[in-house]
Amino acid sequence: MSTEHCNNPLHADYYADDSAHYTAEVIENVEVAQATWRIRFRCPDMAAKCKPGQFIMLKITDRDDPLIGRPLAVFDVIGDANGVPTDLEAVYLVKGNLTTRLVDVVAGQYLDVWGPLGNGFLPQETRHLIMVAGGIGQTPFVTLAREYLGLANYDRDCPQAQKVTLCYGARNEHLLAGVDTFESVAGLDVRLCTDDGSRGHHGLVTELLEQVLSEDKEAHGSSEGTRVVCCGPEPMMEAVAKVSKSWAVQCQVSLETPMACGIGICFTCVTKVVQNDGSWDYKRTCVEGPVFDASKIVWH
Ligand SMILES: Cc1cc2nc3c(=O)[nH]c(=O)nc-3n(C[C@H](O)[C@H](O)[C@H](O)COP(=O)(O)OP(=O)(O)OC[C@H]3O[C@@H](n4cnc5c(N)ncnc54)[C@H](O)[C@@H]3O)c2cc1C
Ligand code: FES
Repeated sequence: MSTEHCNNPLHADYYADDSAHYTAEVIENVEVAQATWRIRFRCPDMAAKCKPGQFIMLKITDRDDPLIGRPLAVFDVIGDANGVPTDLEAVYLVKGNLTTRLVDVVAGQYLDVWGPLGNGFLPQETRHLIMVAGGIGQTPFVTLAREYLGLANYDRDCPQAQKVTLCYGARNEHLLAGVDTFESVAGLDVRLCTDDGSRGHHGLVTELLEQVLSEDKEAHGSSEGTRVVCCGPEPMMEAVAKVSKSWAVQCQVSLETPMACGIGICFTCVTKVVQNDGSWDYKRTCVEGPVFDASKIVWH
């Protein structure tokens, strides 16, 4: 958006400096689970810049309804035969104005895409990274898993974890989306659960998390070096934050608050975050997030 880096954290440019608007050709748009689709589009510039946990604002080119883009996490970065990143993928749940129209988009059509946006997950020394996803909240985790397993196809210093686990829960097996992609990540420990028991553990994803934390502590004598990252419906993220706290394990959440501009201007996306002095202040999820320290979020 600008050519020189802005040094003022109150300005949107400070965060969104590296992002730009692209018109991207759709390569593929396929249904991957119940009411859940994966769309791939060609955008080599953005594909080369995207980091785990960042998102895009997306709209269908030449369509005015919806007028503004919608935020979607970057699900995967696809490379050409030489491994050079060319395409991006998003996985979306069919929900409202944009997504009900997006399912009709076919290869060769165009999307307006702004990105990459948001802070994403910063590289951190971690022994065991546990990624906890609920509903459509698995979308930021494929690239994060690859990064911590040393399989990323871009250059960023990220300490490798000894182990990376995905705990992924949905209401039933038909709503679990992208499991094959996660299972194709070499070394990733994939644990599934469903509310109705149709696949994986019969129960809540927090129960899976407790199980993984317990195994981890048994194997290592303590939970030191273990870190939880989480994305999904807000009550589930709050519950995961609580479990993590009870195990004295650091937890970060990737919030999915509704957004209008995506670049720090409109303040539709604010969330209450605790400050150093104990008071809370509004932070913009689009530029100061979407990833936050879970212990700092005021959930209600
Ligand atoms: C950083 C970020 C990443 C996201 N990544 C994904 C993703 O990878 N896949 C995906 O399917 N969705 C994702 N979302 C959520 C997605 O942006 C919303 O569901 C979006 O509203 C869908 O657009 P729509 O036009 O189809 O629905 P809309 O017409 O905008 O909304 C339909 C209904 O959902 C409500 N709504 C809108 N936004 C949200 C929200 N964030 N949470 C709860 N209710 C909402 C509206 O009030 C309305 O009732 C993400 C959101 C954020 C902020
Ligand atoms: S969406 Fe506009 S400030 Fe965050």
